[in-house]
Amino acid sequence: MEQKLEEMSEFFNNRSQVYDERHVGAIDGGLESKRILASFLPGHTQNLVDLGIGTGLELEAVFERFPDIEVTGIDIAEKMLRQLKEKYADKSVILHQCSYFDYDLGDAHYDAALSVMSLHHYNHDEKADLYRRIYKGLKQGGTYIECDYMLSEHEYENPQEQEDFYFAEYGRLKREQRITDEQQYHYDTPCTVSNQKQLLLEAGFSRVSEVWRIKNTVVLAADK
Ligand SMILES: C[S@@+](CC[C@H](N)C(=O)[O-])C[C@H]1O[C@@H](n2cnc3c(N)ncnc32)[C@H](O)[C@@H]1O
Repeated sequence: MEQKLEEMSEFFNNRSQVYDERHVGAIDGGLESKRILASFLPGHTQNLVDLGIGTGLELEAVFERFPDIEVTGIDIAEKMLRQLKEKYADKSVILHQCSYFDYDLGDAHYDAALSVMSLHHYNHDEKADLYRRIYKGLKQGGTYIECDYMLSEHEYENPQEQEDFYFAEYGRLKREQRITDEQQYHYDTPCTVSNQKQLLLEAGFSRVSEVWRIKNTVVLAADK
């Protein structure tokens, strides 16, 4: 049966109660892919913005390493944020329920930025604009860490062909289901690791490195 596309916040709100268990079981690298991320943050990190923070699975290890860090979390799904608030009631977490495409990341404000398993729903143009805003929002010496579902030659003979296939399929489903671009829908359109790196470099980052990978779960660190 064809996948029925669901609006993004609705998709995650409807699954928020079971998200932690199911998501960790479904992704390459499991919980390790969340816990490893804190180790890539700069040692001087005092504040962090997390784009698509969800229930905050990645925060546990962040708070272990930086107990007093201030986290700004952005997510469109209210029920995911509700779960997060319960988990980290005693921590300094400022949450904004909105799209990260609409949130003003400011100018040289954050020591670090993080996005985990969220951006594989978006295309190159959307990412390019967001990466430029992340770059601007970071202080000099700051780092952006992205952990996501990405396509590499380790898993695919031709990662670019695979990326093109997902975008074409998404376009076809949108046309068939008469969906316009006014809202964001949940459909996986992962990009190749080399396209991801290129987009980050074009956004201004001076160095972009792949720092961790288990199958399709890849972590990139981009330095300002
Ligand atoms: C797979 S979950 C990842 C949550 C968390 N970062 C983690 O790794 O467990 C993707 C999250 O991104 C959020 N999201 C997707 N598109 C978004 C957007 N445009 N703006 C803000 N949040 C978004 C979803 O609501 C969801 O909570």
